[in-house]
Amino acid sequence: MTMELSGRAAHRAEITARAQADMAAMGVDAAFIDRLVDTFYGNIQQHAELGPVFEGRLAGRWPEHMVKMKAFWSSVAFKTGAYGGKPVQAHQGVDGMAEHLFLQWLQLFSDTLAEIGATEEARGWFLASAERIAKSLVLSLFYNPAFDDPRMRSAP
Ligand code: HEM
Repeated sequence: MTMELSGRAAHRAEITARAQADMAAMGVDAAFIDRLVDTFYGNIQQHAELGPVFEGRLAGRWPEHMVKMKAFWSSVAFKTGAYGGKPVQAHQGVDGMAEHLFLQWLQLFSDTLAEIGATEEARGWFLASAERIAKSLVLSLFYNPAFDDPRMRSAP
């Protein structure tokens, strides 16, 4: 049992060490994550459409949001498991939330990566990760299986 646990712990340590090395090769470290999150949510607050949607939900709670988002992106990049939140639930019932806003969110994220001088590799990696997560959020927030029901389609 103890052997099994220490084996698993060693495996986890190996995974995080490899992730850290992969990230370092792209110029990504903890300071990069801080800069990315600080700059991105600064840009969000200035954004004409996204700004008010975030502000409506996060007024007075921005500092804790920033801490959470840094834990989230560190967890994704360094595979640490440090973030244990519930992203789908967090996005439910947000006033003004709409599918088209996800494209604007991704554009701003891409612009922010360029703004902070991310390497090509880091920019590609963070964008691909954000797109994957955005797609799964869009599906869980807006997808209705009834749309696939053949009875919902108009006759040819
Ligand atoms: C239109 C797009 C988006 C909007 C308007 C939006 C808005 C928000 C808001 C208002 C919160 C705070 C919820 C709360 O604490 O009450 C939040 C949390 C969060 N968002 Fe987004 N978001 C968007 C897209 C994304 C995307 C694409 C990602 C990931 C790549 C993401 C990741 C997260 C995470 C991890 C949290 C924290 C969840 C938790 O509480 O554990 N969001 N978002």
